[in-house]
Amino acid sequence: MDSAWLDHLYRLVLQQMREGIILSDAEGKIVFINDAAEQIRNIRRENILGNSMVNCHKESSREKVLRALDYLKTHEGSSISRMVTDVMNDKIYENVYAPIFEPGVGLQGIAVISRDVTEQRKSEESKANYQRAQQIAHDTLREQYHNLVLTSMEMLCNLLETRDDYTDGHSKRVCEIAVKLYEQKYGVNELLLDVQWAAKLHDIGKICIPDSIVQKPGKLTSEEYEAIKQHSRLAGEIIRPLDPGSRIWPIIRHHHERYDGKGYPDGLQGIQIPDGSRVIAIADAYDAMRSSRPYRKTMNYEQCIQEIRSNAGKQFDPEWVEIFLDLANTGSIE
Ligand SMILES: [Fe+2]
Repeated sequence: MDSAWLDHLYRLVLQQMREGIILSDAEGKIVFINDAAEQIRNIRRENILGNSMVNCHKESSREKVLRALDYLKTHEGSSISRMVTDVMNDKIYENVYAPIFEPGVGLQGIAVISRDVTEQRKSEESKANYQRAQQIAHDTLREQYHNLVLTSMEMLCNLLETRDDYTDGHSKRVCEIAVKLYEQKYGVNELLLDVQWAAKLHDIGKICIPDSIVQKPGKLTSEEYEAIKQHSRLAGEIIRPLDPGSRIWPIIRHHHERYDGKGYPDGLQGIQIPDGSRVIAIADAYDAMRSSRPYRKTMNYEQCIQEIRSNAGKQFDPEWVEIFLDLANTGSIE
């Protein structure tokens, strides 16, 4: 086969490749540039041929190129890749520098293969922009939903607080005590907010119980007591649709469970009862005892503390009682 013809064929193939090809000799003098290299790198063959590979780069990057070429000259089979952003021509391309070694002879030259990635990068960028926009829309919707839920819960709190004289302030005080206890044990964490909301709304079920029972001045009959016991279950049902993560409504539903299992609505015992419910149970009972009720005189501070202490392990979680007593002893709970 005619070797000159074959050389011509090789040259044609290199000339017509989609990737830009620049070849230098072993000293780094440029000996070949194909059409694609001219186009991608926005250079002119006549200005570059015969020049040193290093001098074809911007002055600021020449030292880096020199180091890279020196490395390649002594590392057969290696390559170095560089991404170039050409702002002037709105182009992004990748250059791969590779040494050409002839087995048994040594370094023959350096090849620089350039690939235009502008379109690919732009499509990646527009995809990323689209995803970012989607994420922002999603976050906004989520925030709006969250605010709507909070507003609904605030409305329910207001509704409950205006129900009667006793309830007014009770939920807020229970919330304050429960938060103090919870912070004492766990510090401030994201679950604190759940306990806070649960405490504020723990008695919301009472809006479903007739006024004649909720506001009855005297002692309740057993039927009336059974009716009022429904409030914790009903409260859980009211809050459930606003709490898709089920973080708050179970705390509310179980705030009248007892540690010994004799509470309601489900007779849960010990740690079966949600932690938040066990905290609220103490705060709720304490505030109820401290407040005046139509059918019972207010108990004094000492009596209330004694009542909580004597119910450790019965009505209340003993661990939470300890924490309550610690706070009471240091004057944090009055
Ligand atoms: Fe309650």
